[in-house]
Amino acid sequence: MENSKLSVDELAMFCKRKGFVYPSAEIYGGFAGFWDFGHLGVEVKNNLKREWWTFHVQKRDDIVGIDGAIITNPKVWEASGHVANFSDIIVICKKCKKANKIDKHEIGKVKCPCGGEYDFEKAREFQSMFKTNVGIDGFAYLRPETAQLIFTNFKFVQENARMKLPFGIAQIGKAFRNEIAPRDFLFRMREFEQMEIEYFVNPKDKCPYKIGDSEIFVYSAEMQEKNKKMEKMKFIDAYKKGIIKTDWHAYWLEQEFLWFVGLGANKEKFRIRQHMKDEKSHYAYDTWDLEYEFPFGWKELQGMANRTDYDLKQHEKNSGVSMAIVINEKGEKLIPHVVCEPSQGVERAFLVFMFDAYEYDKKRENVVLHLHPKLACYKAAVLPIVRVDKDIVKLAKEIYEDLKNEYNVLYDESGSIGKRYARNDEIGTPYCIAVDEQSLKDKSITVRDRDTTKQIRVKISDLKEVLKKLLNREIEFEKAGKVVETRVK
Ligand code: GAP
Repeated sequence: MENSKLSVDELAMFCKRKGFVYPSAEIYGGFAGFWDFGHLGVEVKNNLKREWWTFHVQKRDDIVGIDGAIITNPKVWEASGHVANFSDIIVICKKCKKANKIDKHEIGKVKCPCGGEYDFEKAREFQSMFKTNVGIDGFAYLRPETAQLIFTNFKFVQENARMKLPFGIAQIGKAFRNEIAPRDFLFRMREFEQMEIEYFVNPKDKCPYKIGDSEIFVYSAEMQEKNKKMEKMKFIDAYKKGIIKTDWHAYWLEQEFLWFVGLGANKEKFRIRQHMKDEKSHYAYDTWDLEYEFPFGWKELQGMANRTDYDLKQHEKNSGVSMAIVINEKGEKLIPHVVCEPSQGVERAFLVFMFDAYEYDKKRENVVLHLHPKLACYKAAVLPIVRVDKDIVKLAKEIYEDLKNEYNVLYDESGSIGKRYARNDEIGTPYCIAVDEQSLKDKSITVRDRDTTKQIRVKISDLKEVLKKLLNREIEFEKAGKVVETRVK
């Protein structure tokens, strides 16, 4: 199986077999829409979230983070419009009798995936927020997006962090949606995580950041209406031609695309698609999605809505607390606009990195998971060539203990060296460090590269520095040590 042919079910099976992701409570038959991350999955997921936070918050001066409550005052969801509008249309298929969720604009236009006709006369709305009890007779909702906690804390954060427009507030956390038809493994879940930014601006101000010339497939609402094909173009050109209306939207769409590509995702599988008029959320003025070509089609990976001042105004109206901030020395005030809201599902990002990393290597006869070193669970595995030689084992354990202070590394002495290489290929360990007889004599080890199976010999005293450079992609593998003949691939 090559990666391009890998189906989502096959990826789910692989993830379960290796310990990345399990169906939640599988011993009781599972629970649709809920998944648990295993000992490897949690590492990749944590790395992914850390990379997102570093890129979007810590490396920027204009974005700070928060971590809001999952359950909050239900008035928040009334003010935001979710109580009135956050619902799906349910339709039942006349042929397979299954319930499915469709968008409002699809009523009368679409068929069930089984090919059957829907009974549109019985189409009904279904509130997608989960409700829960609070205290003896209170109730609340589980948040369907993390965004609202950013809006309700907006004034505190702006004042305490002394943020000046334009600036953003970021958050990573759980979100819950009572999806009618959870499907496609981690793609549509009932409990998932979001990584979101609300980016606040004065709508009169231009974006001060450069829009670059990376290229992507662009699929505007007009192209969709006129049944045209998507077009590959530079972000900057899409903005200059007026296809992307604001410089802010173009800038953020490119940033999000570059974040994925920088962590090893395949750039040819991305496109940006504008929402059609009747597809936009209740709060959105204009929305572009970053989409990815999954094996089950082009699908939303990240939503990026222009929410204007809708949310802050709604909270001002409903709470009675002013959301305006001072914008200049003259003391003029303004309710800022969220010109765009990069909103990324953690699990959908996880799927992208796994699909793009997965390859069945026919020569090696095993899967090789080409995860970017920053995302890989273990950065290296330390393997004594023979288990029976006490001196080799002792040296391997010393190297392992030393590396463990800096990286998540694995020690593995069971099975042949070939099997151990294959095991590490499958879980995406970028480098295997083998300790052999020569190591005892000249205090050197071999480092094997997961992607090419090439090996180099490196002094143990240089190992940490070499590994650091390799993991940061600062040095070519063959230049990091003395290339040696590869006996076991
Ligand atoms: N605050 C805006 C917002 O929540 P959204 O387009 O509804 O916008 C943003 O969701 C992102 O959250 C999606 O692009 C997707 O990555 C993720 N997401 C939404 N629903 C999901 C679900 N049921 N399962 C997994 N991820 C989901």
